[in-house]
Parts: sequence; C-alpha cells; structure tokens
Amino acid sequence: MKELYVLMLSLHGLIRGNDLELGRDADTGGQILYVVELARSLARQRQVGKVDLLTRRIEDSAISADYACPEEILGDHARIIRLRCGPRRYLRKESLWPYLDQLVDRVLLFLREQKRLPDVIHSHYADAGYVGMQLSQLLGIPQIHTGHSLGRSKQQHLLAQGRKPQALERQFNFHRRIAAEEAVLQQASLIITSTPQESAEQYGLYTNYQPERAVVIPPGTDISRFAPPSRRIPLEPEVARLIDRFLVQPRKPLILTICRPEMRKNLGALIAAFGSSPALHEKANLAIVAGNREDIRKLEAAQTEVMTNLLLDIDQYDLWGKVALPKQHKPIDVAGFYRLAAQRRGVFVNPALTEPFGLTLLEAAASGLPIVATEDGGPRDIVGHCKNGVLVNPSDIPAIAEAIEYVLAEPRRWQRWARNGITGVKNHYTWDAHVKKYLHVLSRLLHHERKQIRRDMAIYRPQRHPLPLVSQMLISDIDNTLLGDRAALRRFLATLRATPPNLGFGIATGRTLKSTLKILKEWGVPLPDILITAVGSEINYGLELRPDIGWQNLIRYSWRRDAVEEALREVPGLILQSPENQREFKLSYNVDPEALPPISKIRALLREQKLSANLIYSRQAFLDILPLRASKGRAIRYLAYKWGLPLRAFLVAGDSGNDHEMLIGDTLGVVVANHSPELASLRGNEQIYFANARYADGIAEGMSYYAFGIPILETENDPKI
Ligand code: GLC
Ligand code: MG
Repeated sequence: MKELYVLMLSLHGLIRGNDLELGRDADTGGQILYVVELARSLARQRQVGKVDLLTRRIEDSAISADYACPEEILGDHARIIRLRCGPRRYLRKESLWPYLDQLVDRVLLFLREQKRLPDVIHSHYADAGYVGMQLSQLLGIPQIHTGHSLGRSKQQHLLAQGRKPQALERQFNFHRRIAAEEAVLQQASLIITSTPQESAEQYGLYTNYQPERAVVIPPGTDISRFAPPSRRIPLEPEVARLIDRFLVQPRKPLILTICRPEMRKNLGALIAAFGSSPALHEKANLAIVAGNREDIRKLEAAQTEVMTNLLLDIDQYDLWGKVALPKQHKPIDVAGFYRLAAQRRGVFVNPALTEPFGLTLLEAAASGLPIVATEDGGPRDIVGHCKNGVLVNPSDIPAIAEAIEYVLAEPRRWQRWARNGITGVKNHYTWDAHVKKYLHVLSRLLHHERKQIRRDMAIYRPQRHPLPLVSQMLISDIDNTLLGDRAALRRFLATLRATPPNLGFGIATGRTLKSTLKILKEWGVPLPDILITAVGSEINYGLELRPDIGWQNLIRYSWRRDAVEEALREVPGLILQSPENQREFKLSYNVDPEALPPISKIRALLREQKLSANLIYSRQAFLDILPLRASKGRAIRYLAYKWGLPLRAFLVAGDSGNDHEMLIGDTLGVVVANHSPELASLRGNEQIYFANARYADGIAEGMSYYAFGIPILETENDPKI
C-alpha cells in the first residue's frame, strides 16, 4: 500500500506545536492538544507518509507571531499549515462561520500545489466539519469527523440552566453550528467518538447520526510524565512535604483525589465516606488536591463554598491530622502526588457526580495507583479496559467507604491492579494505542472505498486525474452542440478518450440535472467530471454528482425567488414552464415573443421592486430568471477560481444565446457551424473560433484549432523545458 496522506482540519483557537496557549477559548484547549498529538503520532507510523494539520492563519499583534507562520514542522512527515481566511485578527469560533466557504477554496489551491491529493480528510469540530464536508464532496475523498463537543448537547445544557434561547443564539450561533453538524453526520464516512456514552447520548440527539458509522477510540494521553515509583524515578521529597505536614502518621496508605473545587466533583461525599468509617480513618490518610489558593474567601463564590464545606466537614468528623489539603502546588508536582500515593499502597478516588471521560483516572492508572470511581461513562470504560479498580454509585456514601476498604484490604490484589493499570493505559489510552486503532479502521474504510472506485472506473473513463490536478477543462453545451448528430458524437468521444488525463470534461446546459443525466445516457455520453446545469445555477461533480455547496451559498445572495415570481405574474407573454424545469435558483418561462414587452422593461420592473436577478433570454422562446450571481459564464469563472486554473485553460463550446456569456471573455471559445443567428455577432472576436463542422465535429475542430488537449501541454510547468 502506498504511504497515506492524511489532511487534518482544525480551525479555531490557537494551534502550534509546542507550549500551547490554552484557555483562550474555554473548551478549545483539549481539542488543540488532541489534534497536535494525533498529527504527530500518526506521522510516526510506518504506513503514514504525510500529515498536514490545516488551520487558520492569525496575524494579530495581541498574540504570538507563531500563529502567523504559514508552515510549522511538527516532526518528520507532519506539519501545521496555516491558511488565510477572513480577517487577519484572532476570531472566536462562533464568528468563523461567514469565512468558511472561502477557506474551502484556499484549501483547494493548497492541494493543487501539493500535486497529490490526501487519502482522507479528518475534520475536528463543527466548523472544520463543514469545510471538510465540502472538500470531501468536491474531491471524492472520504471524510472522518470528530465532533469534540456538540451543539445540541451544549444548547440543551444551557437551556436547562434557564438561559434565554435568543441570547444563546446570539452568543453561540447554534443554528449554524447544528445545521453544519447534521450535514457532516450525513456526509462523513466515519465518526470518531471518545466514549460509548458520547456516541449514545450526545450524537444520539442528531437526526442524521448513523451509529454504524461511528467508532469509539478513546483519545490518547501523554503518559510520559506519569510512571510508578521506581529506582529510576525517585520520590520527590518536596512533594511528600506538601502532603505530610498535615498528617500525624504519614506512612499510612494514602487515599488521593485530584480535581478542581467544584460541586460536581462531590468531594463532600468522599469526606463523609472517610469520616464515617472508623476502620478507614484508622488505617489510611486522605489527601485532597483541589487547586491552588491564597485565601479561600477570595476564590469564585462557588469554589469558596466547596472549600468552606470541606473544612467544616473535616472538623465535624474530627479528621485533623488525617486529611491533607495542600494549599499551593506546581503543575509539575501532580505526577509526584500519584507516585507518592502508589508508593504508600493507596488508592485514587474520583467520586464526581458525572464523569464523561476522567483523565485523572488514567494518570493514576499509569502511575500504578488502583482506582475507585463513579459509575459513569468514562470510568466504566477505563475500569473495563484496565481492570484496575472498583466503580461506585457516587451518592451512596457507605458504598464509597466499602470500595476504598476493599482496594486497600488485599496486598496481592492491590499489586495486580497496580500492574493492570500500567499496562492497560499503555494498550488502550496512549497516543500510540489510539493511532493503531485509528489506522485499523482507516485502512478498512479506504479498502472499501477503493473497491467502490475500481468498480466505478470500469464503467467510467479510465485514467483521469482528479479535478485539482487537472490543467485544462473542456466545457460544452448539450443541445445542438454536443448532441444532435450521432456520428459526429462518436468521433468526438474518440477524440476525447485520446486526450491526456490532465484534461477535464464538463457540460453546461439549461437543462436540469435530472434531464441532463437522462439525455446523456440516451446518447451514450459518459458522465462528465463537471455538470453545470439549470443555466449555470447548479454545479455537480463526478459519479456521485456531488453538489458544489460553495456555489449555492455564493449565488443565494439577495435571491428572492417567490417575490420575483409574484412581480412577474401580470407580465404578458410569460408562461411558467412545467414544475420539473423550476429549480431553487432558476425560475423559467416559455415566451410568446409577440406579446412579450422588451426584456429591458422586465428588468426595470424588477428593479423598481428592489429585486435583483439575472435575466437570460434565448432563442426567442425561453426566459430564465436566475440569482444575480448565477449564469453559465459565471459558473465557469467560479470554477476557474476554485480549481486554480486560468480562464485560458477552458475551452468552451456552444451554439445559442444562453451560451453567449460563457463564450466571451478570456476563455477559448468555439461556436459550432449549426449555431443560431444570435451568435453571429461574436464573429471577429479574437478568442472565439467559428468551426466549419457541425455539432460535435465542430467541438473537435475547435480543439485542434487551439491545440487543446494535446499531451505537450502536460509539461507546461516542467522546469526542465
Ligand atoms: C432548457 C431548459 C429550460 C430553459 C432553456 C433555456 O430548454 O429545459 O428550462 O428555459 O433551456 O435556457
Ligand atoms: Mg444549445
């Protein structure tokens, strides 16, 4: 198998390789750590040749210049790529939405420079999910998605706290976010979640969630800082001092908990369990590491309350000399606390009311310290995988005491659980373990997709480059240009097959997508790479007819279809076409030219009512009304920009009025000999060739006139020439 190229997308927050500036977006720090570690660990694997972690470039004097650097090396085969998108300053994640379509285009140009397409796109969080979904559709590359946190659960949570829906919407843009999440769940081939509980309870809130496409792969942890006490890593005496100054008999087994002083952490239950069991507080000491403080009264109100209650509880059970409550510690001391408790044959307790993940439990396990934890999603998985402790109901105080006594009771069992924790974390919760599972599901996914592609190729034109690697594009109208003469079509298709693989083929038509597919099939035309239909208002790609969402978003601007239809109701000579010809961005009429007022009058009528639209009149028979920004010609210009091709790389062929706009300008044009009279005015235009041959023969004649699709052009960018 060729070496994998993984493109990761993670857009908000501040991402760099070292020394992360966490906490700027409250819930973003974890995600950033995750994506950087994932990128690094993936790149270390033999099967992986290249990992690009793509994010937004931020040029803002308020933050480090590192985030403005276009490329940062993360290690062999892994880099961070920063692309511009929207304003240069830092933006919080809720404000990124308007700029994401632009980022899609920037990524396409970036990929064009790479000269190789990724094998998979892995997006993180809703914003990158939205970008990844479009790239996946445009390029036909599978998407993997990790939500990290989900809009619906956050919204529910905040509503339950009594927050006002409108205020929440203004602050968090939930509407946009949830719509994007639904669309991503529809498109992505694989969703990676951290716990079964996250899959069931959070993703379960989404209409488009398909459990069979989700896999649980717990995030890796960097456990290199956490290790059991050993000769190599001696106990830090200063860490012991932080604890022991509280204790009368410090040598006893140490019951340890480490958490922020929050109500949810349920520390009161732990003190009650310890205090109400004489056996326990005779046998062991308790250490509660709950953040740092100068003065309890100056903490946040909720924290003051938690800390005050702790002190009152200690006093009530008279646990003085048996409970340590260190006042200050450094982040680096944390690993030492676990080691100290392990060395004293203690236990780590996490009695939180809910615990979706439980990083501290993994740190304890890696330090060789058995655990007692709340029976909830995270702990259930950890104890299930590691077999290193006991789960308890956090509101059952006697049960907590009993579980702790059980862990401390039997030295042989304690030893076994200590060892199980150390190996369990290595096998299930390190980044290496994470990427092993990741690559396993990825290779299954790619195998499946490749089989599908091979099957499709057999019925499709073989050996074509995917779009970002195409360097020329032939776009033809359908009726009376490509189709109309069967023998000519056969000759043209043979010419097309002989062109080099860097030539893409597309059609541009007034027909709808459905009617286009039908007529192409009837005439035996293989499916084009690009379908521009409904007079340029829709663009689809490839065999799966993947829609170009960026184009829809672009042309939607100030389009009020219903109002336009209403305004034109009384205009004489306009007869609405049948419903199958009407599209979201195309309102079409048949025309009675005798009765119809001049088109300029109709334009004026719409203008008076402040309605903007693009009117396209063809063959004295049809009037199409499109959004201001849509037409076949504009669709081609959009494609040129999006796929990074100059307009001269497009050869455009047509026969009638609705082709006019795509023929003029910098594209190379061909008008077939059987054209309708309205195109005669284009004669003499430098870049419009009038063929002598009719129908598809005319297109082939134009190709040879411009030497279009001749292999020589392949080497155009070759520096040797
Ligand atoms: C095709 C379409 C029709 C459109 C016409 C002119 O015939 O079916 O809806 O009005 O082209 O673009
Ligand atoms: Mg035509």
